[in-house]
Amino acid sequence: MTQSTNITWHETTITKNDRRSQNGHGSCTLWFTGLSGSGKSTIANAVSNELFRLGINEYVLDGDNIRHGLNKDLGFSEHDRTENIRRIGEVAKLFVDSGKVITTAFISPFRSDRDQVRELFEEGEFIEVFVDCPIEVCEQRDPKQLYAKARRGEIKDFTGIDSPYEAPEKPEITLRSDLLSVEEAVGQVIAYLREKNIF
Ligand code: ADX
Repeated sequence: MTQSTNITWHETTITKNDRRSQNGHGSCTLWFTGLSGSGKSTIANAVSNELFRLGINEYVLDGDNIRHGLNKDLGFSEHDRTENIRRIGEVAKLFVDSGKVITTAFISPFRSDRDQVRELFEEGEFIEVFVDCPIEVCEQRDPKQLYAKARRGEIKDFTGIDSPYEAPEKPEITLRSDLLSVEEAVGQVIAYLREKNIF
């Protein structure tokens, strides 16, 4: 990677706190992590719907969508996944600076990558949401038939099959998506945000 030189950080006149005051609520990243098929995208999207309904400035960053644009140059090697998460982390930080509550839905299988993203944020701005679902259940659901392809050897480096998933050790929120309904999962996330006075 070429490094930029001769650049300095330019402070804007309007700050994150100004934007938060105008919005009337705080801003943060709800970082959903979990296996393919665990329900990350579904729950993240449902959380954003509820935030919108409540009048909160929200946005969703979703793995499959971002990989169509910003990150379409990246695949699923360890190096590319790390770069995928690094970029999303930086984008998420911009959204938080812009005053929004965002949800991100990426497998983000490596603990060190998620921890690096956490480091970008101030205390309380990065909320790790572990969408915890046994792989047997994810594989049974297999909404995109990707597990079936991985088992047949048609996709390599598939998370949970021949590429690792490192579960969070201390996530702010854990959602057992095999046991909870989507509505219950959304309720748990919204309750957390209220408890932390985000709104
Ligand atoms: S991450 O590992 O870099 O965080 P990301 O969340 O962006 O992954 O993308 C995962 C999505 O890409 C999955 O939901 C699935 O639809 C698709 N996909 C394609 N190939 C793979 C693979 N080898 N491993 C995991 N997901 C894959």
